[in-house]
Amino acid sequence: MKKILAPSILSADFSRLSEQVDEVVVAGAEWIHVDVMDGHFVPNLSMGPVVVDALRKSFPSLFLDVHLMVEAPEKWITSFAKSGANRLTIHAESTPHVHRAIQMIRSAGLQAGIAFNPATGLDTLAYIVEDVDLVLVMTVNPGFGGQHLIPATLPKISEVRRKLIEYGCSTAHVQVDGGISLETLEQVMSAGANVIVAGSAIFEAAHPKERVQEFLSRF
Ligand code: DX5
Ligand code: ZN
Repeated sequence: MKKILAPSILSADFSRLSEQVDEVVVAGAEWIHVDVMDGHFVPNLSMGPVVVDALRKSFPSLFLDVHLMVEAPEKWITSFAKSGANRLTIHAESTPHVHRAIQMIRSAGLQAGIAFNPATGLDTLAYIVEDVDLVLVMTVNPGFGGQHLIPATLPKISEVRRKLIEYGCSTAHVQVDGGISLETLEQVMSAGANVIVAGSAIFEAAHPKERVQEFLSRF
């Protein structure tokens, strides 16, 4: 399956965000990953629709992959759709109404993803698999960049890949997020991930452009 690099701007220098995004996109990153945190679902605050809106204005055709680490994500779907997000990924743990929230995302004309925290099982997947185009396996506990990958999440990546085939949805993406570096990349790819989110490994590198090229050369 085609591999895609999605740099997470959580670790970017926000005082020159468009310059940093431009650098990684020119280097070959296909998606930009936007981490939205509400201080409730995760113990941190980050950015909201205004940032997506600003990116959309600067980069009209860039694929904006928005990861909602928020409680009751259904409250935010309309705002993010208006701001120009391409996909909204919600957490299986973030609402009792996962199915409804995914329907709302699709009705708004966006792609939908489902994310699972490290200790969450995949039961929900069976009931929404036909409505999502991406499954995000969190490889750290969400909330912060720069953490170490949790090895116990690796078998879950393979389990998701297996289940997608079993359910007849083998074209869905398997995304990994958290602690992905040049050192851990091979492990997650061989487990079955095809969309690689990387924040600190890219934006904290001395030369993000070269780091993107290093990632891509290993795909
Ligand atoms: C974590 C976020 C990640 C984060 C990854 O809660 O969802 O997208 O930015 O950062 P790194 O790649 O530094 O682990
Ligand atoms: Zn993320």
